[in-house]
Amino acid sequence: MERSMGDKVLQSEQPGLEMGQKQNASWHNQPSSPHLPKTQEWLRKHRRRLASRLAMGLISSQSRYALRRDLELQFAPRPAKIPITVRPLCADDLDLLMPQDDLSRSFDEQQEIAWRRSFADTVGSGGYVAIDGRDGRPCYVQWLLGASQNDLIRRLGGFPRLDEDTALLENAYTPPSHRGLGIMSAAMALIAERAAAFGARYVLTFVGTDNVASLKGCQKAGFEVHLIQRRLRVGYGLIDVSLYRKGGVSDAPK
Ligand SMILES: CC(C)(COP(=O)(O)OP(=O)(O)OC[C@H]1O[C@@H](n2cnc3c(N)ncnc32)[C@H](O)[C@@H]1OP(=O)(O)O)[C@@H](O)C(=O)NCCC(=O)NCCS
Repeated sequence: MERSMGDKVLQSEQPGLEMGQKQNASWHNQPSSPHLPKTQEWLRKHRRRLASRLAMGLISSQSRYALRRDLELQFAPRPAKIPITVRPLCADDLDLLMPQDDLSRSFDEQQEIAWRRSFADTVGSGGYVAIDGRDGRPCYVQWLLGASQNDLIRRLGGFPRLDEDTALLENAYTPPSHRGLGIMSAAMALIAERAAAFGARYVLTFVGTDNVASLKGCQKAGFEVHLIQRRLRVGYGLIDVSLYRKGGVSDAPK
């Protein structure tokens, strides 16, 4: 999908020719330049990064719950309302789940997608998807990171350094067509269990204190409030400080 978007731009823009530069005729006849989709993707990536920096403003503060699941405690996940399975993210999944520049989606939804695509670019690996058993298409995505990725986690900002026995599960996304079917609760429970493969006992996840849907989804996936984070960003995120206090059952909204 990405490739055909790049081809379309090449055909309509033909940048060099429009500027009257001498062009090799055989180049002109080529359906696409292999570099253009890459350039377009590079521009898109940097535009997303710039937009998210600007969105932070001069000063911003955020409160989040850090929820934790102890994989050694027995937990029976509630099944989703549709059949799902979980597998690692593949290259084509993101375009199916989170198409870019889809103007039929609301502005907020496009922002959610841009943020997650930017996260995917930065993180590179560790993504998992849930597959809708009815048509084999991805219907949920989330990223699982381990302590061996602490350098990357520090660069992402906003997360504590992970202990060896702890994993981080972040950036849940269910497309609007599949929301409210219990996919997050069921898929998140299954993805969290994959952390045992790299020796983690605990899995942490962060949720804005105002994100009720996500909070409920996490709790139904076996996560409990563990810490309360107060994150302060100054100067478009150049200074990024987090304070934590112990949280507990009484901190979770009823
Ligand atoms: C948050 C999100 C992942 C939930 O996905 P989902 O697959 O629809 O979640 P579930 O169906 O498992 O629902 C979880 C719970 O939230 C509830 N819920 C769903 N949408 C809700 C909404 N808009 N307001 C309040 N509760 C909501 C569900 O009813 C369910 O609770 P219940 O079991 O008591 O009925 C999805 O809404 C989404 O992708 N949102 C945008 C991105 C985002 O916020 N990600 C989380 C970042 S921390």
